[in-house]
Amino acid sequence: MLKTIENILLKGGIEEYRAEAKLIVESVSNLSLDKILIADELPNKEKMLEIANKRAQTHAPIQHILGFAYFMGEKYIVNENVLIPRDETELLVQKAYELIKNQQTKIDILDIGVGSGCISCALAKKLFEKDIEILGVDISLDAISTALENINKLDLIRKVILRKSDIFSKIRDIEKFDLIVSNPPYIPLSQKDELDNVVKNFDPHLALFAPDEDGIEFYKKIIETAPKFLKKGGFLAFELGVNQSEKVKKLLEKDFKNIEITKDLAGIDRVITAQSV
Ligand SMILES: C[S@@+](CC[C@H](N)C(=O)[O-])C[C@H]1O[C@@H](n2cnc3c(N)ncnc32)[C@H](O)[C@@H]1O
Repeated sequence: MLKTIENILLKGGIEEYRAEAKLIVESVSNLSLDKILIADELPNKEKMLEIANKRAQTHAPIQHILGFAYFMGEKYIVNENVLIPRDETELLVQKAYELIKNQQTKIDILDIGVGSGCISCALAKKLFEKDIEILGVDISLDAISTALENINKLDLIRKVILRKSDIFSKIRDIEKFDLIVSNPPYIPLSQKDELDNVVKNFDPHLALFAPDEDGIEFYKKIIETAPKFLKKGGFLAFELGVNQSEKVKKLLEKDFKNIEITKDLAGIDRVITAQSV
């Protein structure tokens, strides 16, 4: 079955046909490959073929066809309303976690552009033993309802709450945070045509594009208003797009100290963190 599925994907022009065939077989049968080898029969074979054929014919992301994506070892429900969690974002979670992990008092976190909920949930899991409350906001109600499904599935309902908000629009003046984290839309709208077709056709445009030439509009808006909602000495942590680190650093210099940029595995400045003065 693995070979059959590999062939279907290969013929359909799927580059990662081996890894995806394994993913399909394991996730649809709900068994790992070593368990499959000793099982009497492989369950749900029809379903596997159906998924492989759909992937080969439509080139829709495998995560959309399966209905889930892995992020930091957990399964997240994904669909056309949310960005598929990216590997790069794990670095943002790690850096955000390091900023806050030693705090002894209650930890309040705001996640702007919650999407699938992957950042909020991953932080809630890592900080599970702490007294922590994470507020995830998004302008898209459809994204929020997907995030809610993930929060329920991961049993984090007591740690993560959600609200529809255009950046800070629905954050009350009395709400103050130790950390504001965001992976905002950062691709300049002008680069839309150069974008990979799969990204362009299947990820929600609301999650991808910033309206300005440099793609830094969301950083600008968040940095301007963040001091009002951060506790004294509170932190900001952003994921960055390519060539944005220096521009975002400049924006931060007015009201923030301890600005730190971290590169991803590809050597791209991927995360920027800073502390309010
Ligand atoms: C790049 S995605 C990040 C999703 C998720 N946090 C992740 O890292 O996978 C950006 C998210 O910001 C949301 N968004 C776009 N404009 C927004 C706005 N004005 N206010 C709040 N959220 C917004 C999008 O709906 C999308 O879910």
